[in-house]
Amino acid sequence: MAERSIEVGVLGATGVVGQHFVSRLSRHPWFRPVWLAASERSEGKAYADAAPWRLAAPMPKAAATRTVHACVPGNAPTILFSGLDASVAGEVESAFAAAGHIVVSNARNHRMDPLVPLLIPEVNADHLAVIAEQRAAKGWPGAIVTNPNCSTVVLASALAPLRRFGLSRVVVSTMQAVSGAGYPGVPSLDILGNIVPFIGGEEEKMQSETQKILGSDGGRVPHQVRISAHTNRVPVIDGHTMTVSVEFDAAPDVAAVIEAMRTFRGRPQDLGLPSAPDPAIEVMSEPNRPQPRLDADRGDGMTVCVGRVRPCPVFHVKFVAMGHNVVRGAAGAAILNAELMVAEGLA
Ligand SMILES: NC(=O)c1ccc[n+]([C@@H]2O[C@H](COP(=O)([O-])OP(=O)(O)OC[C@H]3O[C@@H](n4cnc5c(N)ncnc54)[C@H](OP(=O)(O)O)[C@@H]3O)[C@@H](O)[C@H]2O)c1
Repeated sequence: MAERSIEVGVLGATGVVGQHFVSRLSRHPWFRPVWLAASERSEGKAYADAAPWRLAAPMPKAAATRTVHACVPGNAPTILFSGLDASVAGEVESAFAAAGHIVVSNARNHRMDPLVPLLIPEVNADHLAVIAEQRAAKGWPGAIVTNPNCSTVVLASALAPLRRFGLSRVVVSTMQAVSGAGYPGVPSLDILGNIVPFIGGEEEKMQSETQKILGSDGGRVPHQVRISAHTNRVPVIDGHTMTVSVEFDAAPDVAAVIEAMRTFRGRPQDLGLPSAPDPAIEVMSEPNRPQPRLDADRGDGMTVCVGRVRPCPVFHVKFVAMGHNVVRGAAGAAILNAELMVAEGLA
């Protein structure tokens, strides 16, 4: 694709997801993170003093000395990534869209708004068409686009190639990494050597977000697949793993299911977007893969890995799926959304 140099900003730049945005954007071929914003606790400080850096890669030098701004419209670049806390993301993101900004959000607040695309570029790039109606209905010169919850993105990506077989019912059980709870997240005494069989709101999000993503008319007609999700927190640092059993309208051949996943492509792969993993889904043949420690970083963290695709004696087919929750499930997902919008002339 053509060379680009686009100035962008990050709302919630000091948080866990914000730090992943700053790190990934600092080595991005198109985007230059020149404007960083957070709460009034951080406003006016140098980024190095405001952001308690949690990533293994060092803080980018250019970011370290930037002054952190308040999250108010004024002098920010047009494209803004949001890693804001959900307690404030709703209002702040709307204010920036009203002021003409393209807000590419990772927060949950606007995901289920029928006028806001809930986007996985490989799966439902056509849902971006909703933006025109969003602008007309809300009177915003800007726009808001969201990415799914970190476990939803893995499930919906794995199910997307199987829509052709007629998805009917799905039972999914997750084993979710502690990084998905942010920092400091789950207390160590609760999670070391343990499993916590509850993540607030997560099961509902996996069910409703997946139906919207796989749905039609920009997600306003949810897919009819019925989903039962069990969500669990496990002592893994990065990478959400899930076991999935699927019932179809008519039983497909397991080999056809594997082939559909293996050959799955979308707009990001066709356009050669910088963050597009290729393949979009890696189907692993080893009987003990995917594993989060070994496989979460595949495709620079953007690949959804699938393994153990086999017949299910209760439903039709079952498999394991795994993806990097903070990359494919958060910052990397939003950056791919923005790449698609730029490539499609929407940002
Ligand atoms: N962690 C994950 O893996 C993950 C995955 C998917 C989705 N998410 C979602 O992503 C969002 C961020 O998560 P996180 O784990 O990065 O949270 P976090 O570490 O707590 O960071 C929250 C960010 O929001 C800012 N903020 C808080 N209150 C604010 C206010 N009143 N005004 C302006 N900014 C404010 C914070 O700024 P200060 O530093 O100045 O307080 C910080 O930059 C959440 O909506 C979360 O649900 C997280």
